Amino acid sequence: MVPEIIERVVFSTEDIAKRVGELGEQISQDYLDGAGRDPHRRPLLVVGLLKGALPFMADLTRRMHVPMEYDFMAVSSYQGRTSPGEVRILKDLDSPVGSRDLLIVEDIVDTGHTLEHILRRLRAREPASLKVCTLLDKPARRQVDVPVDYVGFTLEENLFVVGYGLDYAELYRNLPYIGAVKPEYILNHDRPGD
Ligand code: IMP
Repeated sequence: MVPEIIERVVFSTEDIAKRVGELGEQISQDYLDGAGRDPHRRPLLVVGLLKGALPFMADLTRRMHVPMEYDFMAVSSYQGRTSPGEVRILKDLDSPVGSRDLLIVEDIVDTGHTLEHILRRLRAREPASLKVCTLLDKPARRQVDVPVDYVGFTLEENLFVVGYGLDYAELYRNLPYIGAVKPEYILNHDRPGD
């Protein structure tokens, strides 16, 4: 049953599975055509941003066919409460990233502040390469320019969505589809849970 706060399903379980499969194939090919050709190169380090990227990363990496390791970062953003775009690292990577190929897996890029902060921190550690894959992109809301290499779906409308990792006040991450929240539940477009 679709929860009361959801207006409509934007991307179904089938839509997501199909797109994630395409992304997995594309990323694998790009990696194998590039860094993956070097037999001495260390495996790709896939960096998931907790908590929202969890289902996406699990599905995406199982559709990829390159050697890889997992690592995770957790950040919290303070949009709307303190200075705009302030980002705090709650959990940093376990692995050193110097000279490694990194793929950041993100649930959604909205204003871009979170990603911009993470990219700045990781670039300072001088990885061999740094790419970004986001399930969803909201380009119309961007405040800072951030490079995104792979996008699952672009949200043209000013929607707040939940499901497949994305939350509303920490709820609904487990929905197997992505649904738009009814406008009456959205006070502003900052994270409702913040
Ligand atoms: P940014 O720093 O503005 O790009 O925000 C990125 C973070 O905001 C994401 O990782 C999400 O946690 C959250 N966010 C932005 N838009 C949505 C949405 O539509 N649904 C759920 N979370 C969102």
